[in-house]
Amino acid sequence: MPFAQPWTEAPAHQLPRTTAAYYWSTRASFSPSNWTLDLVVRFNGEIVGVQGFHAQDYLVVRTGETGSWLGLAHQGRGIGTLMRQAICVLLFDHLDAVEITSAAFLDNPASLAVSRKVGYVDNGTFREQRRPGELARSRKLLLKPDRFVRPEHPVRVDGAAPLRAAVGLDK
Ligand SMILES: CC(C)(COP(=O)(O)OP(=O)(O)OC[C@H]1O[C@@H](n2cnc3c(N)ncnc32)[C@H](O)[C@@H]1OP(=O)(O)O)[C@@H](O)C(=O)NCCC(=O)NCCS
Repeated sequence: MPFAQPWTEAPAHQLPRTTAAYYWSTRASFSPSNWTLDLVVRFNGEIVGVQGFHAQDYLVVRTGETGSWLGLAHQGRGIGTLMRQAICVLLFDHLDAVEITSAAFLDNPASLAVSRKVGYVDNGTFREQRRPGELARSRKLLLKPDRFVRPEHPVRVDGAAPLRAAVGLDK
């Protein structure tokens, strides 16, 4: 259970509904002052996971936090690195981001490795509750454009103009 919100603890029969409800809620509450962009990840046409970004007061702070997951069968094949690089290209090159943050439990080596490979630097550790009554330690991570390790192949971005308008960057 690698998430700040223990959503994967839900019984299997409830998970589809609660997962959909979460994504519906982020769409319904999307506004320039507080938005979450969850982008579906496809590999060879198959939906394999989600790469997200959450921002509060973005027009002022120009930063926010990435978050992601891949289905178990799709982990450990480099997809997580590529999708993180892709959203960082979108944020730095098309949405005027100045910094991007992330966080991961210290016992989540795959997520920490992706952050390191993409150029994020350590930004301190903190203590938080993982499951009810369970203490966990997490690492904050910070990426600035000059440290960003771009993907080997160029990323093509479609749909940036309406997104810029939706988050308040353009009229
Ligand atoms: C985190 C996640 C998105 C990463 O995606 P991924 O496709 O598995 O990651 P990649 O294959 O691109 O890279 C993983 C890196 O972690 C490394 N890694 C994985 N397990 C490791 C371990 N136990 N010890 C050390 N390194 C490890 C891999 O070696 C790889 O680095 P390398 O390419 O230098 O060899 C994916 O694993 C996932 O969905 N995990 C569950 C959900 C999650 O943790 N989300 C993030 C919450 S903060």
